[in-house]
Amino acid sequence: LEPQRSLMKQVVEVCARAQQTAFAHVTLSGHFVTEATKPEFGQYQNNAALSLFGRLKGTPSAPSSPRAVALALADAMRAAADELCAGLIDKLEVAGAGFINIWIARTWIEARVLDAAIVGMRPPAVVACRALVDFSSPNVAKEMHVGHLRSTIIGDTICRVLEFTGHETMRVNHVGDWGTQFGMLIAHMRREHPDFLSAPPPISDLQQFYKAAKVRFDEDASFKAEAHKNVVALQAGDPDCHKAWTLICEASREEFSKVYRRLGIELDEVGESFYNPFIPAVVSTLERYGQVVTEGGAKVIFPPQSKHAIPLIVVKSDGGFNYDSTDLAAVWYRLCELKAEWVIYVVDAGQGSHFDLVFDAAANAGWTAEGTRLQHVQFGLVCGEDGKRFRTRSGEVVRLVDLLDEAKARMLATFKERQAAAQSGGAVVSDLAAAGAASADGDEGEGGSFAFGAPHMADEEMERAAEALGYAAVKYMDLKSNRTSNYIFNYERMLATNGNTAVYLLYAHARLCSIIDKSGADMAALKAARTPIVLEHPAEQAVGLAVAQFAEKVEDVLRELQPHVLCEYLYDTCVKLNVFVRECRVINVPETPSRLMLCAAGIATMRKCFDLLGMAWLERI
Ligand code: ARG
Repeated sequence: LEPQRSLMKQVVEVCARAQQTAFAHVTLSGHFVTEATKPEFGQYQNNAALSLFGRLKGTPSAPSSPRAVALALADAMRAAADELCAGLIDKLEVAGAGFINIWIARTWIEARVLDAAIVGMRPPAVVACRALVDFSSPNVAKEMHVGHLRSTIIGDTICRVLEFTGHETMRVNHVGDWGTQFGMLIAHMRREHPDFLSAPPPISDLQQFYKAAKVRFDEDASFKAEAHKNVVALQAGDPDCHKAWTLICEASREEFSKVYRRLGIELDEVGESFYNPFIPAVVSTLERYGQVVTEGGAKVIFPPQSKHAIPLIVVKSDGGFNYDSTDLAAVWYRLCELKAEWVIYVVDAGQGSHFDLVFDAAANAGWTAEGTRLQHVQFGLVCGEDGKRFRTRSGEVVRLVDLLDEAKARMLATFKERQAAAQSGGAVVSDLAAAGAASADGDEGEGGSFAFGAPHMADEEMERAAEALGYAAVKYMDLKSNRTSNYIFNYERMLATNGNTAVYLLYAHARLCSIIDKSGADMAALKAARTPIVLEHPAEQAVGLAVAQFAEKVEDVLRELQPHVLCEYLYDTCVKLNVFVRECRVINVPETPSRLMLCAAGIATMRKCFDLLGMAWLERI
């Protein structure tokens, strides 16, 4: 779909133009437009007058008060609006000390909502570039744990938003497939499966394999020495070691791709080993730039601008390469070979100083250009109820697959319970109240007979629904809080039917679908006829504005790379839709065609958000 200029952007343009014409001699940095805090104040607010007044004070043409500035600015805004986007602004009002309240014309919002109902959600018009997202990036032979879950889910959403907004996006899985652990693994392979070259062993449980190797490594000094010999041999290109390495990587890859398939995530594996051949040349380039110093036999970099006391270790004292060397080669490859303009690393916050150093080194080497962005998108820990790193009862890291299984199983159990309750004549409407759908006086509204947890579902459908909801719940739980903070993992909260949860959202969406369904209307015909949407009731207006603000919310997500901004918007829109269907009758009223179209716009908005968040939605649950 053709992109569109967001509502916020258009308002900002009007304000900026007005400022230029009315106060040409003052330049303010940034803009001063915010969303209105209450519907009585319109939809947006221009707060520039106060700053302008401050800047003009003491000059010969100084205005008498911020209010006087605001009045002049408002006049200029009217003229600018006529010129730039006639029909956008309905009313401007100077309030308080000098705020300008802005009302967007209802007809303008109606037109935008109609477009959403008919064609779907358009992306905001942004300057797109060549982006590369390094995410997920688990380590071979080690379990993918909840930390990798965060990287995988946040990274996927960032990619989806980039793709939606027209960025050329490379999804890169920087798998840890190189390094000293392979010495140990290969040595273990040689002992356990001496004939691995002729008869490749089926390594079904790589974690077990890893653990056993580790035990040996820690206990047996001769094994340790063997392990070391094998790393050196692997790095020198020994064919037998290489074969063992390949077998281990393949087994690991199979495990990882199962998880990706379950989560519906696509990404290209470009593991650490890929960059290995480039490291020597990259190191000598850095040496030529005089960045590299020798310390305790190792070659290290202290970027002059760095705030960290530790250096990057480019070459270890034994001459080997490591994680740092690999990331230097990778950043070089991405910037200079792939010509990426925006490189995003979705990695836990603990690696912050590592990336600061890598980015500084890349800039000092001249690999970045004007406008190149290197960004560490960091995230906090997943914690247990005790506030400490989430672990299983026996103290092990929580396996990602177990988490997905558990979410699905719990969802399925809930469905079964409801089905049994419904069959024995019990009510299932309590879920409606939970989903915010029932009105306070006990009237269930039009979705009332809509039975969640589906007594009508056959086993197979129930299974699929449980999976969709369970996985979506895991993803949403992770995405909805500010990624930089830690969050506490809790199944009950995650799968709750009320509050800001995936289950609540997906139920509300299914309920809207059921209202349309029940109306019996031919939606395709209503859309083809461009049936007008009339936003009369305040609840309709609230939904309309929310739909019209979709593009600017996507802009916000893109600017901050913060998925929770989209979650907040989705939840907010969903609550407004629930209020709307509770307060406004949709079926069998004169407003039916308009209201059905508004439901369609709401559904389109929710679905696009679900898509961007990687959540599968269902038309009935
Ligand atoms: N494999 C690493 C880990 O599990 C993450 C790699 C992140 N990407 C990177 N380019 N360093 O911690």
